[in-house]
Amino acid sequence: MLLRLIAFISFFAVACSKPNSSTFKAYPKASSWMGSSLNIIGGKTLKQLTLPGTHDSGAFWLSDTPLPGADYACHNAFEIISKETEQPMVTVMKPWELAQDQNIYNQLVGGIRYIDLRAGYYNVTNTWVTFHYLIGSPIIEILQNISQFLNDYPTEIVIIEISHFDGYPTAQNIADLQQMTLNILGKFIYPVDLAFNFTINDMINSGKRAIVTMESGYGNVIWPGDSIYNTYADSPVVKTMINFNTQTVAQYMNMTLPYQIFKISWTLTPNDQTVIGTVKPKNPHTLIELADIANPYLPDFVNEMMAKRYQIGNILIIDHFESSAIMNVTYLMNGIS
Ligand SMILES: *[C@@H]1O[C@H](CO)[C@@H](O)[C@H](O)[C@H]1NC(C)=O
Ligand SMILES: *[C@@H]1O[C@H](CO)[C@@H](O)[C@H](O)[C@H]1NC(C)=O
Ligand SMILES: *[C@@H]1O[C@H](CO)[C@@H](O)[C@H](O)[C@H]1NC(C)=O
Ligand SMILES: *[C@@H]1O[C@H](CO)[C@@H](O)[C@H](O)[C@H]1NC(C)=O
Ligand SMILES: *[C@@H]1O[C@H](CO)[C@@H](O)[C@H](O)[C@H]1NC(C)=O
Ligand SMILES: *[C@@H]1O[C@H](CO)[C@@H](O)[C@H](O)[C@H]1NC(C)=O
Repeated sequence: MLLRLIAFISFFAVACSKPNSSTFKAYPKASSWMGSSLNIIGGKTLKQLTLPGTHDSGAFWLSDTPLPGADYACHNAFEIISKETEQPMVTVMKPWELAQDQNIYNQLVGGIRYIDLRAGYYNVTNTWVTFHYLIGSPIIEILQNISQFLNDYPTEIVIIEISHFDGYPTAQNIADLQQMTLNILGKFIYPVDLAFNFTINDMINSGKRAIVTMESGYGNVIWPGDSIYNTYADSPVVKTMINFNTQTVAQYMNMTLPYQIFKISWTLTPNDQTVIGTVKPKNPHTLIELADIANPYLPDFVNEMMAKRYQIGNILIIDHFESSAIMNVTYLMNGIS
């Protein structure tokens, strides 16, 4: 038992290294896929499209420092393995917290148009950071990367959902986050219009190509958190996740959501059993490996939904996006060949 545990711990050494940017290859033309298909999508509203997104977008790199006040799943399993292997908790848990391996700029260049940005207040440095239990990059750097992308690609739009706010921020800390967001992205932000009565062309022509949501919103600039209707299966089992999404899409087709866009998650969520299962070599050892189990099933799901003339929500998010067919299905779902 212990030997096998040691064998998988040594695997962590590789999985925990810095993201693999050098080997990143974007889909051809993914960087400006919206601009190059304006003849098809330019006149459409966000409600008429399905945009590709990443889940836990900031969790492409994480430090070894937990965010004070942040909660985490699989607590028991991490503790058991940590004790058994005499490894620090952080070594055991990090492989299950990293959801992506490309930085934010690369995600956007890779075609991703929705960023799931989990913001926490780190009271030691008094800064806002992204986190997945462990602290990742500063929020300021992520916002700057998004701004850089919007500058570099003038025909592309980005939706940014800023959420969580763990670490016990004060009202003043939250006001500072809002101000920082306005300072960096303000000139790009499309004003709040919960009827979603505007088209991609409207956004591009006005130069206001970002939608930013935060829990409480902010004036008519930052959209309220519930402008995005979130769904996810919360299961590590592919079949359960697919069944959940099949039902969710069918329900969505029956719903009228006047003030919201709808998000589908093509993601598996590890539980204690998944983490303990790591001791078996054939089982996934990381969240990225778990994603690689689910991702190959996406095209069939999309084809099945499209055969029923269903729309797969307005945002479709995924882990380890560059190992998936997310862009292929994006073109398909939006009628772009
Ligand atoms: C980075 O990519 C190379 C080539 O695909 C691969 O051999 C290597 O294992 C990767 N490293 C990590 C940390 O994923
Ligand atoms: C921002 O972009 C730079 C340059 O592409 C990259 O090195 C860095 O990792 C990115 N940072 C984040 C937080 O995405
Ligand atoms: C940060 O917050 C944690 C949890 O509330 C607390 O235990 C710690 O003392 C705080 N540290 C600082 C420097 O304020
Ligand atoms: C927005 O609303 C106006 C007035 O109700 C309507 O004429 C227009 O067609 C709508 N535009 C879109 C993109 O739905
Ligand atoms: C959608 O609505 C129709 C008609 O009301 C109903 O028969 C069907 O069961 C509903 N489907 C779902 C998935 O809610
Ligand atoms: C996506 O499409 C590209 C070319 O359009 C193709 O080369 C690639 O194999 C496809 N990927 C998947 C996973 O279907």
